[in-house]
This record gives sequence, C-alpha cells and structure tokens, in this order.
Amino acid sequence: MSEQKLPLDKNGAPHQDASNGYEVLTTSHGVPIGNNQSHLRVGEVGPLLMEDFHFREKIFHFDHERIPERVVHARGYGAHGFFETTTELSEITSADIFQRKNEKTPVFVRFSTVVGSKGSADLARDVRGFAVKFYTKEGNWDLVGNNIPVFFIQDPIKFPDLVHSVKEEPDRGFPQAQSAHDNFWDFISLSPESMHMVMWVMSDRTIPRSLRFMEGFGVHTFRFVNKKGKSTFVKFHWKPKLGVQSVVWDEAVKINGADPDFHRRDLWDAISKGDFPEWELGIQTFDEKFAESYDFSILDPTKLIPEEIIPLKIVGRLVLDRVVDNFFAETEQVAFLTHNIVPGIDFTDDPLLQGRNFSYLDTQLKRLGSPNFAHLPINAPKCPMHAFHQDGHMTTNNREGRVNYEPNSWGKAIGGPRESREQGFISFPEVISGEKLRIRPEAFADHYSQARQFYLSQSALEKKHIADALIFELSKVETPMIRERTVGHLRNIDNDFALTVSNKLV
Ligand code: HEM
Repeated sequence: MSEQKLPLDKNGAPHQDASNGYEVLTTSHGVPIGNNQSHLRVGEVGPLLMEDFHFREKIFHFDHERIPERVVHARGYGAHGFFETTTELSEITSADIFQRKNEKTPVFVRFSTVVGSKGSADLARDVRGFAVKFYTKEGNWDLVGNNIPVFFIQDPIKFPDLVHSVKEEPDRGFPQAQSAHDNFWDFISLSPESMHMVMWVMSDRTIPRSLRFMEGFGVHTFRFVNKKGKSTFVKFHWKPKLGVQSVVWDEAVKINGADPDFHRRDLWDAISKGDFPEWELGIQTFDEKFAESYDFSILDPTKLIPEEIIPLKIVGRLVLDRVVDNFFAETEQVAFLTHNIVPGIDFTDDPLLQGRNFSYLDTQLKRLGSPNFAHLPINAPKCPMHAFHQDGHMTTNNREGRVNYEPNSWGKAIGGPRESREQGFISFPEVISGEKLRIRPEAFADHYSQARQFYLSQSALEKKHIADALIFELSKVETPMIRERTVGHLRNIDNDFALTVSNKLV
C-alpha cells in the first residue's frame, strides 16, 4: 500500500491540532471537522438539518461499504510475498520470470474456501482455492488454482449448476458451507465425471491443518513456449515446505465452533512472528507425443498425471512474508483472472480453462463495479503499463496529452505506445480444424479409473476417513434415490468400499 498522505492546510502543512498534537479528522475532501459526535440541528431537540455535509458524507460512505461477495470462494485470506526462481527455464519458456536463477518476483496469494459465504467458518469440508498473482516484469501472471489437482466437471457450461447445487438450497437458505445435502449429491450422482474429485473432497485434504500445510495445483494443462516458438505442455504444483497435514473431522467440527477464523489467524500469526510459510513450485512438462500416448486426455481437468509417470521438477519457491495492511483493500479487492498470462506461457484447449477465461473478467466487473479495477494498487502491474483505455468509473490513470488512439502519426514524443512483435504476447499458432459441435469428447469418457487409483493409493486409515465422510454426507441426504445413485457410482470405484458406506447410512 502506498503511504497515506496527511491532508494539508492552507500553508501546505498537515492538519494538526496544536492543542493535542493529533491529526485533525477531515471529510474525504480534506475539510477539517469540528464535531464528530452530534448532528447539526435546530435548537436542543429540533429537526436535523440537511445542510450537515459531514453527516451526509459519512453516512453515504458507510451505506456503500459493502460490495458483492465473490459468487464462489467468498471467504478468503491473502498475504504478500515473493517467488524466487531456482531453476532457469529458458530452454522451454521465454517467460521473463523463469529466465534468471535467484530472481525474486513479488506475489500476492489468496487462499479461500469455495462454498461458504464471507462469514462462514474456516474448517468447512471444502476445496481450498490457492490463487497466486505474480507481478512479473512482463505483466501480471495469475495462477488461479486449488488444493486438489482435479476438478468436478469437464465442461464450463456445467459450472453454474455445480455451484447452485452445492450452495445453500434456494427455498430455505441453508445449509451454509456444507455439501452434505440433497441438492449437491443429486447433481453429483447425475454427473459421473465428478467421481474422481469427489474422492479427493471426501478425503482429509479438504480439512487442512492450516493453509500453510496445503498443496496447490494449477489443475489444467498449460503451455510453455520458448523463444523459437516451440511449445511444451506444463502442469503446475505447489508443495508446502511443512508437508501436507490435515485435522480429523471431529477436530474440524470443534474448531469451527471454538475459532471459526482458525486458518486466517494461523496465517496472520505465523507471518507476523516471522515464521514465513513457504512452498516449492514444481512443474510436470511433456510433449505432444506423451500427450497422445497417455491413457487419458491431458485436456480433461478431471484427470491428473501421476508424479510416478512424470516426476516433478522444482523450479522455484514461494515465500509469504508480509500480512496485508488492510483486508478489504487487498484481500477483498484483489481480482484474479485466469486470462492473465505473460509471453512464454499460453493456454491449451482444456474446455474448463477456456470457459474460465471468459468468466473471471466478467465477474470482476460485477464485483468491483468498474472496468478500472486494474487501477487498484493490489491489481495494478508493478511493471510499466501503457494502454489507450480511458474513462469509466473511478479512473485514476488516464493518459496525458491529446492522443488516445493508435495508429497515429504524432511521433514518439507524444504519440504513445506501439505494439511490439519482438516483446509482445503472441498466441501459440496451434493448428485447429473441425466441425462446430456441442459434444463431450470420447477421450473424456472414463470417469472411474483415476477415482479408483486415488482410493487404492490411500492408507487404511485414510480409506476409513473417506468412507466416514461419505457416510456423514449421504446420511444427511433425505431422498433414497439420490443415495442409491451415489452408492452405485462408488461400486464402480470399489465394491467393498461402496458396501461399507451403504451399510452404515442412517
Ligand atoms: C468453468 C469453471 C469455473 C468457473 C466458471 C469459475 C468461476 C469463478 C468465479 C466467478 C470466481 C469468483 C471470482 C471473483 O469474484 O473474484 C472464481 C473464483 C475462484 N476460482 Fe473459479 N471457476 C471455475 C473453475 C475453477 C477451477 C477449475 C479452479 C481451480 C483450478 C478455480 C479456482 C478458483 C479460485 C482459487 C478462485 C478464488 C480466487 C480468489 O481468491 O479471489 N475455479 N471462480
């Protein structure tokens, strides 16, 4: 945050009350205030006067303090830090951030739960968002990930239905921050593609010990593109230096009651006392040949590539070393956009990623209320920014001078910026052809193999925790048909496991 300037008096000195040394309270237009305790009125108990501009400004501002909370991931907590490149990657990407070992790039990270409202409790069983804004020298790169490596759905057209189903039911307005209800499991039982993610969500991963003990994943396959224009597929992973830890369900329930701010308090306390949380950035890289030979489509966001098949290469570290100065200005107003990528990084045709690229810009306008949300200090790039955008609500950085268009013939001195073929972002020239269809690819059809693989990879205790979670959730489902359909899917994952769950439903 930039330092707040004291309002100046007529002689250019800060307002200061000579009698007590305090700064003088002012209106937001800098007018010193003589009385902040009583409204201007006629006589002792007479009517209040509209003329009281201080009251009107104060109430006006208060009345407009709330902005819409995020439609998902409303409850979050952010911190500042840096990313240090530990491996130079110029062979596979021209991204400036990966060109020099030991280079530090400022970051802002926001962790979140998905389902609950802003005031919900930290230890709800839920996926955690892990969104990182890198303020690189070539613009902001937002890696907007989760603490689980796969997602519920394969097609963005299903996202509003997924979110409606898991949020509170619309007639009764509950349950809050809970997936244990009919609507969610109805949607899930009719969407077999969600079964892999459901197994992760029912595991201890969704009740983390603290935000400092969580992994993070970019989920989608992205591209790196090098200076020669060669593309390499890449998946991003955050590995916590402290390891992965969770609480057990009974602890989660108790903590939610005793300290609903448990996770945000933990992060604030750790950073404030200098115990800076740290993650390593790992990448899995592969080429078209691997993509074609792999058992699953690398564009299917419900699938992962096991580290046993493509091991992680550690390329950097993320350290969070500064708490926010103001929660609203930074954590609330930060606006992540999956389309914020930089030269050397590009998208793939993962349909969910493509859908997200539309959604985030759209939602930021609704939430922050102006196309100028990038003028806010938390969202503004830390590198130079030269554009011909102008005006709109809350403009703070219109260009100076008469030129607001391009091309123009006004010359370098006043004509403003020009595009650059050498430095500018150029999309990877992927060859694409095909019919226009509204379909789900055949290559996305196997919904159970990786769900089973995840289940089998768990220890006996972890398996029990998954079964217990399902028993709890499905026992809250009132409609037998929804329970039956869900257990039917579990049978495709592991028959004994399905029986364990169904036998204990109450
Ligand atoms: C089609 C699928 C998806 C759509 C349409 C979608 C849409 C949204 C929207 C509208 C928000 C609120 C943003 C805001 O108000 O600032 C959001 C937040 C978020 N989404 Fe998604 N999302 C999708 C899938 C995903 C996936 C797959 C991930 C993880 C890889 C993810 C991670 C996040 C995170 C971390 C946030 C919170 C960002 C923050 O901390 O401000 N979303 N999403």
